[in-house]
Amino acid sequence: MIGSLTCMFPEMNLHNDIPRHIAIIMDGNGRWAKSRGLPRIQGHRAGAESVREVIDAGKELGIEYITLYAFSSENWSRPEKEVSALMKLLEQFLESKRKDLMRQNVRLQAIGQLHRLPASTKKKLDQVIDQTKDNTSITLVLAISYGSREEIVEAMRRIAQSAVDGEIQPADIDAKLVADSLYTANIPDPDLLIRTSGELRLSNFLLWQISYAEIFIFDKCWPDFRQGDLFDAVKEYQKRHRRFGAL
Ligand code: FPP
Repeated sequence: MIGSLTCMFPEMNLHNDIPRHIAIIMDGNGRWAKSRGLPRIQGHRAGAESVREVIDAGKELGIEYITLYAFSSENWSRPEKEVSALMKLLEQFLESKRKDLMRQNVRLQAIGQLHRLPASTKKKLDQVIDQTKDNTSITLVLAISYGSREEIVEAMRRIAQSAVDGEIQPADIDAKLVADSLYTANIPDPDLLIRTSGELRLSNFLLWQISYAEIFIFDKCWPDFRQGDLFDAVKEYQKRHRRFGAL
């Protein structure tokens, strides 16, 4: 597989400097649909196809984690029709991908306020997470009903409770304890953050975790995102010199 990729992308170094974790803000589904005179949900459906593409590309590249911003805390305020269509799409995705995830050895995880999901969506999600928990090739993390501020607030509450209960002292609170109290406790920080549709915003996504991530903005809308775009982002990433604040 590496041989075929080297042919397609001769300047990509597949042995070094592959990001461990890529996080993606999948934006522009609505605009993609509107520009074609289609209902917004058609844009989300087409976006689900791009999700399949990035899983395949990520696996080929040997990326360990891909986190996708599938539904934000703020998305609950969209019209009821769009919210339920998105939940249904997620369920369909989980149902139709279940076998593929097993065959491709993909582990599924989810972060966010998952208790807010409709019972049927939560049930399907839990089933696929459980079924794929021992898979080892790549971890796909779906951020659903996710908001970074909410995540940090919840972590702060837990830490404050530990202090009140006398389990820790204020001086014990450090960056590691905060990181370990987030939904992403066992997930390495993203090395690369991709956002589609040209918007220059973080939209309450992994604010703590992306402190040192390299950021790539693609002008194209998410439904047009293909494997080659992920390869391009990784090639570009390999050209950047990450200093983590040092010289
Ligand atoms: C942002 O586009 C996208 C979303 C709110 C939903 C993302 C969902 C999918 C790609 C499909 C389902 C996901 C999985 C994991 C199967 P937008 O609607 O904000 O676009 P706009 O800014 O153009 O209106």
